[in-house]
Amino acid sequence: MSPESDAVVTPSPPLLQIVGLHASVEGQPILKGIDLTVEAGKVHAIMGPNGSGKSTLANVLLGNPAYEVTAGSILFHGEDITSWPTDVRGKAGIFLAFQDPESIGGVPVIQFLRQALSARRGTDMSVLEVRMMMIEWMDKLGMDPAFGERHLNDGFSGGEKKRNEILQMALLEPELAILDETDSGLDVDALRTVAKGVHTVRQERPELGVLVISHYQRMLEELDADRVHLLVDGVIAAEGGPELGAKLESEGYDAWRS
Ligand SMILES: Nc1ncnc2c1ncn2[C@@H]1O[C@H](COP(=O)(O)OP(=O)(O)O)[C@@H](O)[C@H]1O
Ligand SMILES: [Mg+2]
Repeated sequence: MSPESDAVVTPSPPLLQIVGLHASVEGQPILKGIDLTVEAGKVHAIMGPNGSGKSTLANVLLGNPAYEVTAGSILFHGEDITSWPTDVRGKAGIFLAFQDPESIGGVPVIQFLRQALSARRGTDMSVLEVRMMMIEWMDKLGMDPAFGERHLNDGFSGGEKKRNEILQMALLEPELAILDETDSGLDVDALRTVAKGVHTVRQERPELGVLVISHYQRMLEELDADRVHLLVDGVIAAEGGPELGAKLESEGYDAWRS
């Protein structure tokens, strides 16, 4: 027998596996048993009414200490990361674009990126290296180069904030990107820019897994979502292909509310 024929081929575990996840905020149960798997290279969308727990899920995935996991687990490449602190998850390649990015007064975009990038790579990046990467990506994303000298989210328009999140994503080269309503408050052009940004990053990193939280079918189409999950009152109420997104947008969430 050739060595190849008796080699055991172990399928690599999925990028992200959420198993029976329950989470509470301030003692209040919000997530009530979530099972969801995201394979590398796939785009999964989460839709659902306001207050159903979408942002809670995003925060729990990034390990925000304000959210308590009360049961279940989160596996990243098959490894249980449920108790990992946020910075370790970030270094491992989990990226979250917030629904409402905070302004960080006095921190220029480039400074922020340098810190984040050095942490992700485990090595100190020089300002020059970061500037070169930033300029290259801003060009690819069609952003104004002056942007990097501005202060983080300070006076950014809605569209600029979201583009900035995509720029961070591009530079940090995550394995899993979670985009929490990155399209909220965006006009159609800005939405397309965000989608194009994600596509551009995926061209260079086809293995990137994306979990996108959105109300808009438009966004799912632009991102070419593979799967849609409907979150209602802390549980996955329905799952399907892109057609589910279209159905939810045209019919609304009412039929699913308890
Ligand atoms: N940091 C927090 N502190 C207190 N309550 C929270 C917090 N985050 C979320 N919640 C509550 O959890 C529920 C789900 O909110 P959220 O996850 O933001 O929903 P969605 O993103 O689907 O609109 C809401 O009732 C909300 O008030
Ligand atoms: Mg939300």
